[in-house]
Amino acid sequence: MGNFLAGKVIAVTGAGRGIGRAVALAAAAEGARVVVNDYGVSMDGVSPTSEIAEGVVKEILAAGGEAVAVADDISTMAGGQRVVDVAVSSYGRIDGVVCVAGILRERMLFNMSEEEWDPVLATHLKGTFTVFRAASAVMRKQRGGTLIGFTSGNHQGSVSQANYSAAKGGIISLVRSAALGLNKYGVTANAVAPVARTRMSANVPMELAEIGSAEDVAALVVYLLSDSAREQGITGQVYTVAGPKIAVWAQPRELRAAYASGGWTVDKIAEFLPGSVGVDPMPMLSRLQEMERAAREGSRPNA
Ligand SMILES: NC(=O)c1ccc[n+]([C@@H]2O[C@H](COP(=O)([O-])OP(=O)(O)OC[C@H]3O[C@@H](n4cnc5c(N)ncnc54)[C@H](O)[C@@H]3O)[C@@H](O)[C@H]2O)c1
Repeated sequence: MGNFLAGKVIAVTGAGRGIGRAVALAAAAEGARVVVNDYGVSMDGVSPTSEIAEGVVKEILAAGGEAVAVADDISTMAGGQRVVDVAVSSYGRIDGVVCVAGILRERMLFNMSEEEWDPVLATHLKGTFTVFRAASAVMRKQRGGTLIGFTSGNHQGSVSQANYSAAKGGIISLVRSAALGLNKYGVTANAVAPVARTRMSANVPMELAEIGSAEDVAALVVYLLSDSAREQGITGQVYTVAGPKIAVWAQPRELRAAYASGGWTVDKIAEFLPGSVGVDPMPMLSRLQEMERAAREGSRPNA
């Protein structure tokens, strides 16, 4: 056991399995008292059971740590609030929340139903909002705290998971908004885009060149929750952790601009835009085209 998080109270959603479980165990091993939230659902978000969260609490207690289970659905306002309420009623405060809970409902955009769109947005994006909302109200009064959202490299776009990609893009904007809005209260907010072997990544139809374990991701999360990261002023950032690699994503910014006097007309834009503003080539599209070429040639593409 280390002491990176000694004295801190940390809540982790989706902490019953995969990356969330590794985060909860690592936080407890570093001295945190942990709220283990998991609705205990299948990968597409059905058939809840409270045993999944309770199992991880037992593991933490057996290792000599302190933890309490919350088996609520964080896609509801009441569920998100309860995660934070249980932290405060059990341990008196909340120093960090880590929103890991997620589900998948894969479908091409032209076939995607409302039942495939809504629960995915509700679990990832609203499920981050509900917990951030409840936690930030307490952290504002405490004058400190750390919010961590879980995004994905797929926030750049996805062939058959537009729902997931849109939710993950939204989480980045939510995290940056939290970083801006809560900065003056001493609250930091960051996002993690992991690549790790779990049930969720098991069905990716390509060889992932850079992939690691849930424990690699947990180590980064513990660091972001620690006073060391807070002292460095780390906020509003998106980090990928993929096996041996940790990378920081660029902040969105305008790439090139053109100006016209006298207002724009369609004619002026047609003349101006291609040459002077142009496009920013989409890395995911080039990769997709390479993968399609490899598939046509009968080889399994690398990513
Ligand atoms: N594994 C990867 O390589 C990878 C890549 C990119 C992003 N991610 C993201 O990391 C996070 C964790 O993924 P994982 O691979 O550990 O998945 P996982 O399926 O192993 O675990 C997700 C957990 O979330 C729980 N959950 C689902 N809906 C919930 C709800 N409404 N309330 C509370 N708990 C709920 C599930 O019961 C499950 O235990 C997800 O947000 C995922 O999108 C993972």
